[in-house]
Amino acid sequence: MKQLVKTGLVICVVVWAVSSNAQQSDPHLIYEQRCAGCHAPHAGDFVTEQLIATENGLVGKASDRPVIDYLKAGHGKLSDQEIDVLVEQFEFIQGTGRLFKEKCIICHDNAAEFARLKLILRDDILTGRYTDRDVAEFLLNHGRLDASEAKKMVEVLTRQLQVR
Ligand code: HEC
Ligand code: HEC
Repeated sequence: MKQLVKTGLVICVVVWAVSSNAQQSDPHLIYEQRCAGCHAPHAGDFVTEQLIATENGLVGKASDRPVIDYLKAGHGKLSDQEIDVLVEQFEFIQGTGRLFKEKCIICHDNAAEFARLKLILRDDILTGRYTDRDVAEFLLNHGRLDASEAKKMVEVLTRQLQVR
């Protein structure tokens, strides 16, 4: 019994130690937990509504300040590592959003709607909901994407289906 209590205590201490200095490295969770309370519920909307791409990276529309400076100055209270993860995610969203606007939106509504209506994840593979198509393969010959753009597009459409 004594031994059990002791083991229990050790486990508690370990769990506490791990969680108290946990660094978040999932950009979705960082955004959801640390930004969404005051900004748009999804990072995708925040990026399109609030940020623009410039030579100095992503900049806030209202403040005209680079996002990275904004966050490094303490806004949102993130660690440097969390800032890097989040800013990288914002840039990814911005880049693929632009690609979708340039090459797809004439025929398909916005990416989120399109993905939810027409696509589905089957065993983690992005598939046409009604056509059973392997989307990664399909996009190599559709929408005039090069191979690396097609890969990015699959990633971004997949993420649309993973957000709640
Ligand atoms: C407690 C509320 C709150 C939280 C949490 C918060 N923000 Fe903000 N944020 C604001 C407010 C209010 C403004 C506008 C006023 C200002 O400049 O301070 C703003 C402005 C910004 C701007 C400048 C926008 C522009 O158009 O120039 C950026 C970028 C930004 N926030 C990013 C974030 C990110 C990323 C997070 C999460 C890490 C975050 N914020 C968390 C309230 C918040
Ligand atoms: C000129 C119009 C046009 C453009 C531009 C276009 N599409 Fe399509 N797309 C279609 C049509 C029409 C279909 C349905 C074809 C079919 O089912 O045989 C389709 C089907 C698809 C499908 C398969 C859906 C399913 O149910 O199987 C995907 C994925 C897709 N498009 C993605 C894209 C992406 C990503 C882009 C931009 C890079 C793009 N499309 C650009 C017209 C277009």
